[in-house]
Amino acid sequence: MVSKNVQDLMEKMTIQEKIGQLIQLSADFFQGDNVAITGPLKEAHLGEAALYSAGSVLGISGAQTVRKVQKNYLKHSRLGIPLLFMADVVHGYKTIFPIPLALGASFDPQVMKTASATAAKESAAGGVHVTFAPMVDLVRDPRWGRVMESTGEDPYLNSVMAKAAVTGFQGTLPLDQNHIAACVKHFAAYGAPEAGREYNTVDISEWRFREQYLPAYAAAIEAQALLVMTSFNTLFGVPATVNQHLMRDILRDELQFHGVLISDWDAIGEIIHHGVAGDLQHAADLALKAGVDIDMMSFAYAKYLAKAASLDPQIEQLINESAQRILILKEQLGLFTDPYRGLSTERETEATLTTENLDAAQAAAEQSMVLLKNSHHTLPLNTATAISLVGPVADTGDILGSWSWQGDPDQTETIADALAKQFSNFTVMPGTQYHHVQFSKLNDAVNASRQQETIVAVLGLPASESGEATSMTDITLPAEQLTLLRELAQLNKPLVTIVITGRPLDLTEVDALSDAVLLAWFPGSRGGAAIANVLSGRVDPSGRLPMTFPRNIGQVPIYYNAYNTGRPISGTPADDENKYLSKYIDAANSPLYPFGFGLSYGDFTITDWTLSQHNVTPDQPLTIQATIHNSADHAGTTVVQLYTHQQVGETVQPVKQLQAFKKVSLGADQTQTITLTVPYDQLSTIHSDLHRSTDQGDYTVMLGFDSTCTASQPFTVAHQ
Ligand code: IFM
Repeated sequence: MVSKNVQDLMEKMTIQEKIGQLIQLSADFFQGDNVAITGPLKEAHLGEAALYSAGSVLGISGAQTVRKVQKNYLKHSRLGIPLLFMADVVHGYKTIFPIPLALGASFDPQVMKTASATAAKESAAGGVHVTFAPMVDLVRDPRWGRVMESTGEDPYLNSVMAKAAVTGFQGTLPLDQNHIAACVKHFAAYGAPEAGREYNTVDISEWRFREQYLPAYAAAIEAQALLVMTSFNTLFGVPATVNQHLMRDILRDELQFHGVLISDWDAIGEIIHHGVAGDLQHAADLALKAGVDIDMMSFAYAKYLAKAASLDPQIEQLINESAQRILILKEQLGLFTDPYRGLSTERETEATLTTENLDAAQAAAEQSMVLLKNSHHTLPLNTATAISLVGPVADTGDILGSWSWQGDPDQTETIADALAKQFSNFTVMPGTQYHHVQFSKLNDAVNASRQQETIVAVLGLPASESGEATSMTDITLPAEQLTLLRELAQLNKPLVTIVITGRPLDLTEVDALSDAVLLAWFPGSRGGAAIANVLSGRVDPSGRLPMTFPRNIGQVPIYYNAYNTGRPISGTPADDENKYLSKYIDAANSPLYPFGFGLSYGDFTITDWTLSQHNVTPDQPLTIQATIHNSADHAGTTVVQLYTHQQVGETVQPVKQLQAFKKVSLGADQTQTITLTVPYDQLSTIHSDLHRSTDQGDYTVMLGFDSTCTASQPFTVAHQ
């Protein structure tokens, strides 16, 4: 339903004004508090008119700045159409939450929702209208640096998290001034570049795309995300940004997405490099026909659409449709009523970096940390333990992670400073830098460690080595850090390794050398305090892996929901006798740490579980009751995970598919009965005709604490 206001504007707007709405420029084009012609505008060969008519800008924020830019912009807008401010508010604005991969590890959609709602509230007060988030690309290759922005390798977990993020950012529609519009990205399958190399070709079958990659985007759209961003990659042989089948047939017709489709940065221009457009004019034509409403920074629309519209009424019609969608978005944001969305410096100060926000960021970090190893109950540590804190990440604020644009590492409490608040006796001696070691410093760290009871090594990579354009061919920790760890291990003292990373790493040697390994990801503004709480046992590390951790790079891509092959291994010694199995001759098939894995300070068992009925129908979901017991003498938190497997299908079926999970916190010696439900439709799969439906037949349900769980029960599915 198009409002009268939008209809009136559409009638009054010239074609040039409509095209203006389709153009997005970056912050550099707008100088501080004035809209002014600057270098970039000249370089892009755009005139002043293009600047004043551009419908949106990316990367400007701050209540005062946004107010001034908007005010000046409106002075030049004949019809008083406000400028739209977009930005990458990914895992926080000023208060930085753990990276999205860590939020996925929380296995708790409420954590994602709170993180997104907090980011929305802070950034809305800072003048942001639209965030380029959530990124819901399914990822299976840790060589790709942007895995940190996703919630992992699983379609179900990603879908649950996508919905939570959209709901957190947008609240319940209509948008209020404390929420911002979500832009789901990158449509589609950007997370599957060949060999994990950034921007590389994506070539997966449409069957596989629909089966595994599409569900999370679909979930975000079902949750009413107001925008979608195209991806840089190709899909089905055509760059996504100009792929009519993807954008028209799948996104618009099938998924019924009626919101604004924006290109990624210069993605329209890149069509020339892909070799699918001969020049920028051709690229503009293809993008518009695919349904891209906003051109982010290729200038193709600015330069060529006016002429194209004058020659071709179809182009004019498409411009009208896009302009109207953008005006509707502006209206949904309330910009026609208040172009400033209630901005004031007082509100910005009150909403930003509040105790409530920082506490929420800390809770999210605590919930997302994954305890990977804990031999002989090395953790938790007594707070009187004499600790030697070493490693390049021990005393730096570089724990926010990539895409934390407004976060300030210099103002972020370091892990050392946070530990000092709880542990009375420790020394800090980093020993190495990330990639560089001075042997005297390494010796100092080792000698200092000799004097202490327990060693805590904080290893990892800087934020600049994860995120966009950080593909890697080697996912072990830098050699210098491993040298330090080897030296420390020789001291024969309890050795705890904390890993700061935005991607799964090959931790084979770290695991072998350490008594305990805590995966802290990039934990955000209050990451230090969260780590201190986990080390001291005030908090149970309750994160579980949202991506499989390989034994070595050669296993990549490795993921739990794989297909069986015609020659599967059995996991028994008989596998050694048979050479002609789907296996490696130099490594196991199994990963170092499987999807869903994580230890607890509690000691959990599933003492009993039953199916309400062994026959599932459209009216009768798969329902399981399970009794969980914590036999430890202290509280703990675990994640109960339910997987299914379809015995025989028209197409191959994954060995296991996550269908439900529940985070359960229990006190010492406590028991709780939980219910998990899987609707009939959720058991559906994509058939060879590319349609989704649920098959009748025999299935297995498995229940446990990670994706290697084997406890199973049979059930059947019937249509009635
Ligand atoms: O939102 C991002 C996108 O994920 C990568 N290219 C740039 C965009 C805007 O900053």
